[in-house]
Amino acid sequence: MRPPARDPQTVVVTGAATGIGRATAVAFARLGCWVLIADRNAARAEETLALVRAAGGDGRVRALDVTDLADLRAAVDEVVAERGRIDVLVNNAGRPMAIRIEDIDEAQFDAVLDVNLKATFFACKYVIEHMLVAGGGAIVNTASDMGLVAGLPNQPAYVASKGAVVLLTKALAVDYAEQDIRVNCVCPCLTDTPMIDDFLATQFPDDAERAKVKAELHAIQPIARMNTPAEVASAIVFLGTPASSGTTGVALPVDGGFVAR
Ligand SMILES: NC(=O)c1ccc[n+]([C@@H]2O[C@H](COP(=O)([O-])OP(=O)(O)OC[C@H]3O[C@@H](n4cnc5c(N)ncnc54)[C@H](O)[C@@H]3O)[C@@H](O)[C@H]2O)c1
Repeated sequence: MRPPARDPQTVVVTGAATGIGRATAVAFARLGCWVLIADRNAARAEETLALVRAAGGDGRVRALDVTDLADLRAAVDEVVAERGRIDVLVNNAGRPMAIRIEDIDEAQFDAVLDVNLKATFFACKYVIEHMLVAGGGAIVNTASDMGLVAGLPNQPAYVASKGAVVLLTKALAVDYAEQDIRVNCVCPCLTDTPMIDDFLATQFPDDAERAKVKAELHAIQPIARMNTPAEVASAIVFLGTPASSGTTGVALPVDGGFVAR
């Protein structure tokens, strides 16, 4: 008999300066966790740290670009040296790119895949090396409904990257199930975060048109609104804690019914 999984104490969240990552850091903080807020936006990450402390947790900011793999490994090793182990890794940093395949070049393709897939892959590798020594842990990747259904036009690199994250999640879940390392992912559809606002700003410079398009986005999901970052964070916390101890290799839509429809 294996011992029961312990409640998480040390959590690493990439892309935790804003949006879903910030909400996830705060949600783990409410459980009393110590959270590494890993993001390239150090100023916004400091704001997240203040929210983490206000929520009853603690942690620190680690400024990094997840595509710098040597620094990503260093950030993981630092946490293990400081905290003894990593209980939960949340690979959440991500970026969209609205460009059709006839217009994209190799550098643009790499820019999307390097963040969404390659950094996720290697963060899993670096953390799993430690989790094998520690005797277990949980990884939650932020994929997308667009990794389950190609419901987003004009984003082939993004859709390909998120589809790959879904199957990477399942591959690792199978490989490490016996070592008590659970690997799952969440698949949001539309979540009201700065990513959406930044994306709309690049596509619709006119304020009135942008507001109209955002209202139309709210109507896309069957629940007739976008999800909140906190709603996605709740699913991530579920998959990262012993509440889901029997679950691994799952791609959980948090999408207001989008895939079901
Ligand atoms: N918002 C949505 O509708 C939606 C839907 C499906 C999936 N997602 C996914 O959710 C995740 C979080 O997105 P969000 O909506 O909260 O967006 P967001 O823009 O609010 O947050 C993304 C965070 O990732 C950080 N980041 C980006 N590239 C980085 C890099 N190279 N190194 C370090 N940090 C980096 C950003 O600084 C930012 O803090 C992403 O993986 C995104 O693809 C979002």
